[in-house]
Amino acid sequence: GVGLGKFLAETGLTTFDGGFVNTASTKSAITYIDGDAGILRYRGYPIEQLAKGSSFLEVSYLLINGELPTPSELEGFTNKIQRHTLLHEDLKRFFDGFPRNAHPMPVLSSAVNALSAYYQDSLDPKDPEQVELSTIRLLAKLPTIAAYAYKKSVGQPFLYPDNSQGLVENFLRMTFGLPAEPYVVNPDIVKALDMLFILHADHEQNCSTSTVRLVGSSQANLFTSISGGINALWGPLHGGANQAVLEMLDEIKESGGDTKDFMNRVKNKEAGVKLMGFGHRVYKNYDPRAAIVKETADQILQILGVNDDLLDIAKGLEEVALSDDYFISRKLYPNVDFYTGLIYRAMGFPTRMFTVLFALGRLPGWIAHWSEMNADPTGKIGRPRQIYTGYTERDYPNMDQR
Ligand code: ACO
Repeated sequence: GVGLGKFLAETGLTTFDGGFVNTASTKSAITYIDGDAGILRYRGYPIEQLAKGSSFLEVSYLLINGELPTPSELEGFTNKIQRHTLLHEDLKRFFDGFPRNAHPMPVLSSAVNALSAYYQDSLDPKDPEQVELSTIRLLAKLPTIAAYAYKKSVGQPFLYPDNSQGLVENFLRMTFGLPAEPYVVNPDIVKALDMLFILHADHEQNCSTSTVRLVGSSQANLFTSISGGINALWGPLHGGANQAVLEMLDEIKESGGDTKDFMNRVKNKEAGVKLMGFGHRVYKNYDPRAAIVKETADQILQILGVNDDLLDIAKGLEEVALSDDYFISRKLYPNVDFYTGLIYRAMGFPTRMFTVLFALGRLPGWIAHWSEMNADPTGKIGRPRQIYTGYTERDYPNMDQR
């Protein structure tokens, strides 16, 4: 790769790969995917083992630092995060400016970008102590910001974080709790959400992570770079797919639950009709995360006593897809977003919060990639080339000649 890059630069040649289908933008030691075999590993550890035995904060430490923490390292990391969960009081007022019906994703990305204005002592990407401080601040404050984005949308008062609680418990309490009523966190929900965050924690050079790297390649600070990633995540072809899946399932239910009719519209490539939550640029096999999520959906809905027609519709769609030549020939399988929304819904989250939950999970991966890039002394600013297709040269006509 480096040899080819040098050769192209010296000869003035340019390669064209729209959508970066075959082009590696970086070397990375964080996450390994074998899309044909359906394998995903963080720092060498299989996703199945991490989902079963680890915790979200431990995985965050692993992704960012490269190794699993010892018990005392994890305790130190957790304590630091717990000390930084509060938002500056002025930043809390920032939420007042948004309309009540705002989608929580732009509220989230704007507030994260605003952290650069409130925490100016941790903006230097080349100072390891400042990078560590901004890392801790982000991990600690994103759940608070996410909960406030929700509270804003339902017109309820913000709750201060309770630092005696773990990250996921605290987030659930700030989201669903009310000042006058003690909120009892369901440990099954905590466990399932923590595990879902692990599954979302990194996925190598996806659209949002590549965005974080590209913004950060100009030596922009961590908060601003992550804000860029949150915006990239919002699109329905990326993290926004979890919301789009639920809307699709609802639409199928509303129109009588005919999955075959919907699948025909997908296969006929009716404008705007896709099987959301299916397909992936890298996986040409079952997404290993989707397999775990599907199993969890069954378990958690049962534990919570939720009977959701949409789960049956989703399973029906998958069954049709896995035996249909359109999907088989294109190697289209469920991705991570296909079943997550059903779990989030059973937990009580409104559809518009789903992509916010994805962002909470993906944060450590974004930070790990931004840090890996900044630690590389040979790193260059990201600056793709283009194939120009416009006019060659033409003379400027004065206004009276047009
Ligand atoms: N429904 C129907 N057809 C599909 C789907 C789908 N979900 N996904 C891909 N296809 C078809 C395409 O129309 C194309 O068909 P063609 O060869 O006849 O033209 C073929 O499969 C290849 O698809 P591409 O769009 O070229 O694949 P690409 O790698 O560019 O896109 C993507 C991947 C964006 C994920 C796509 O599969 C998609 O739009 N899926 C639905 C949205 C979604 O679930 N996104 C979440 C992805 S996971 C994540 O980001 C967390």
